[in-house]
Amino acid sequence: MAESVTRPLAGKTVVLGVCGGIAAYKAAELARLLGKQGADVRAVMTAHATAFIGELTLQTLTGRRVFTDPFQLTQESEIGHIELADAADLIVVAPATANTVARLAAGAADDALASVVLASRAPLLLAPSMNVNMWDSPLTRDNLRRLVDVAGARVVGPGAGFLACRWVGPGRMAEPGDIVEAAARTLSPQDLAGRRVVVTAGPTYEPVDPVRFVGNRSSGKMGYAIAAAAARRGASVHLITGPTSLEPPPGVDVSHVGEAREMRDETTAAAGSADAVVMAAAVADFRPREVQASKLKKRGGDEGAATIEMSENPDILATIGARRSERGDALPILVGFAAETEDVVENARAKLARKRCDLVVGNDVSAVDAGFSVDTNRVVFVTEDGEEARELDEKAGVAHAIVDRLVDGLARAGSDAPHLARRANTRRGDGGGDGDG
Ligand code: CTP
Repeated sequence: MAESVTRPLAGKTVVLGVCGGIAAYKAAELARLLGKQGADVRAVMTAHATAFIGELTLQTLTGRRVFTDPFQLTQESEIGHIELADAADLIVVAPATANTVARLAAGAADDALASVVLASRAPLLLAPSMNVNMWDSPLTRDNLRRLVDVAGARVVGPGAGFLACRWVGPGRMAEPGDIVEAAARTLSPQDLAGRRVVVTAGPTYEPVDPVRFVGNRSSGKMGYAIAAAAARRGASVHLITGPTSLEPPPGVDVSHVGEAREMRDETTAAAGSADAVVMAAAVADFRPREVQASKLKKRGGDEGAATIEMSENPDILATIGARRSERGDALPILVGFAAETEDVVENARAKLARKRCDLVVGNDVSAVDAGFSVDTNRVVFVTEDGEEARELDEKAGVAHAIVDRLVDGLARAGSDAPHLARRANTRRGDGGGDGDG
């Protein structure tokens, strides 16, 4: 999977414009996080920003001289606002104060930051931060709208909360992690824009009694990575997750569920308006037939062992697949996983047919570097048309490869072709049309 998709900020020149607001201190963390994503960060500060955060801080974190004054000959000859404007792949202004938003909206070039923004063709991402009344001012709103409509700027935040001016309300700069995600999204292909994707993730917990449950070792990492990849590429994503310790990806709607039957109810409801459903959850196949109202007590001695009778859980993927085939539910793409310990391709192919999905992602969960808990996975894509065995990859890479299949499948679904026919070298011509024929 190309790094430009899995790590869209890697190797990119990101101009970080910092304005004079109390949130300027968070720009240090933002610079660090952007650098961690592989970006070459070039900080540009307004004069007011230097009252809130030291140049040395940003210089140390970026490893680059900070640009503050285009009218100072030494700075201009070392950095050069036109050079920087040309070199930028992305300009992030964080915090973007009401004053700088107004200057940028007016097309001013009265300091280093405004000059770079005006002279650059790079996408512009603004993270506003200001007093709530400044934010609510029709002038600020109008300035921002102009930047969005006329200059194509994107805006992340602000969030609501307790502001430094002691007002409570919107005006707080978005968190650095969310700004980095917005930056990554700005540089990512938006090939799922306007699509709705439902992803299930994690284990389900089937209660035994008030304190115990039957579960499995699924970490949820694969499903969360798919949700993150689809959201980054423009989809509106609904993540339905069993219990995990993971932080949900930014910008994703999340439903937390416990038992398989709860996951079934949420997923079948969400599938009704989705373009794609990806079932990455490790749904428990069985649940205790009866949930004990009070904690099961040990009885001691030879009597000690307890027997728990189990019932079979509904198969969510098969239910959705069957409804689609039998009732004609409009769901263009259905993707399942096959967690196997042997004969991965054969078992995945059997699940493809039995659960009536378009793609089954098979993986060998007995391998130490793939499957549950680890950050990497080695999968094989199985469709009606054949299989594609993939090399070991980060789960993020596997997730983007799945998203590629969704993008292709949706394009083909639009032209009545088979949903998830193989990509690239085995594709049957690019003309769309009848596919299987
Ligand atoms: N799945 C599901 N509901 C279940 C069990 C599984 O929706 N009750 C989904 C999983 O989310 C996955 C796919 O079906 O996408 C295959 O799951 P897997 O555990 O590999 O297979 P099972 O159907 O449980 O079959 P077996 O245990 O026999 O391998």
